[in-house]
Amino acid sequence: MKEIERILKLDHAGEYGAINIYSAQLLIARLFYKDIVSKLEVMLSHEEEHYKTFNNLLITRSMHPFSVINLWAVGGFAMGLATAIIGHNAIWVCTDAVETTVLYHLEWQLNFLKEHDLEVHAAVSSIIADKELHQEFGQSNGSHSLIYKPVFFIIKKSTEFAIWISRRL
Ligand SMILES: [Fe+2]
Repeated sequence: MKEIERILKLDHAGEYGAINIYSAQLLIARLFYKDIVSKLEVMLSHEEEHYKTFNNLLITRSMHPFSVINLWAVGGFAMGLATAIIGHNAIWVCTDAVETTVLYHLEWQLNFLKEHDLEVHAAVSSIIADKELHQEFGQSNGSHSLIYKPVFFIIKKSTEFAIWISRRL
């Protein structure tokens, strides 16, 4: 698979995973944390926009999504559910951990894409600002207490693993 195609499919699957994380967290928040429902809905709407951006690019280039994209959905949903069950603040620790890991990876993508594909570069650039806002919101609303350090670590490693394994498909 060519690198551009791999990047597009990875980002497409990542946004699909993000949609599922927030969908699961919203399920729990509607029952137990009504104060953050509207914020989660805004986050989800951003992820849906990002997903459309990459989905449209895949369609116009006649490329198929990852064959295992449903694993991203299941993994994202499980991660969202688990963090929401742990607690209110764990939701924002999850946002911070995922966005921090993804932003690091997108930096690499942008450096590659500026030499190889300006259309995909523009698509990736267009989602960066939202991701930075999500990360900042997660950092200022997640708890810094010690109990959340393992949650941050596990989510960061899971996200890194999903990126790593997808690059080898
Ligand atoms: Fe996103």
